[in-house]
Amino acid sequence: MNSDKKLTIAIDGHSSCGKSTVAKALAKLLNYKYIDSGAMYRAITLFCIEQNLVSDSIIDEEKLAQSIDKIRIDFRINDSTRQSETFLNNIRVEDKIREIEVSNLVSPVSKIAFVREALVAQQRSLSDGEGTVMDGRDIGTVVFPDADIKIFMTADAETRAKRRYDELIAKGQTVSIQEIRSNINQRDYIDSNRDISPLKQAEDALVLDNSDLSREEQLKWITDIIAERFNWTIS
Ligand code: DC
Repeated sequence: MNSDKKLTIAIDGHSSCGKSTVAKALAKLLNYKYIDSGAMYRAITLFCIEQNLVSDSIIDEEKLAQSIDKIRIDFRINDSTRQSETFLNNIRVEDKIREIEVSNLVSPVSKIAFVREALVAQQRSLSDGEGTVMDGRDIGTVVFPDADIKIFMTADAETRAKRRYDELIAKGQTVSIQEIRSNINQRDYIDSNRDISPLKQAEDALVLDNSDLSREEQLKWITDIIAERFNWTIS
């Protein structure tokens, strides 16, 4: 299908705009590793909740700092679904980390400097020079500033809220569209305005607004770019 060159593909963007769906599909098509960096921030957040390190939405940073080196996050492929799933200290947390309680706390946890430092180091080592598709907020700006392809994804806020709502309802979670809307707005604000590695478009990123695009159209948009830039035939 293509050359021996293994690409690093960075997909950043706003909350709930479907980054992981496209990133997963792309990784599958190219036979690359997919890394969901948001899941890592979510796993640390779940750790804080489970260890009672949160009170009134304030994180006990001192206690978290004492534990950060002992927190193990890894991704394992589920044999039946063939999907990558998140494990926290050897326990599968793939569904728990997507719950609204975690979503409501993840942006404050992601602002903490030592959390970012630890996770960025892990993200770099997870890639290990293999073909990688990683999605998040700072992948093209901080984690892999030399990525071969950088995509900045976005969609209008209402479309994103509706998509996330449908996804959580389909998983059997009890949420309201207002709750989702306010979580998305709040996360976008905190993620874009924090001091360290804020969400911003890398100068050399290509913008994909997927408000009116199907999953297949988004994938084609990206593979057309890769094919043209590297003179590959992708099918
Ligand atoms: O991709 P996601 O919505 O699952 O990410 C959850 C949160 O994690 C997001 O609101 C901000 C944080 N995050 C981050 O700060 N940096 C990343 N590279 C990925 C996610």
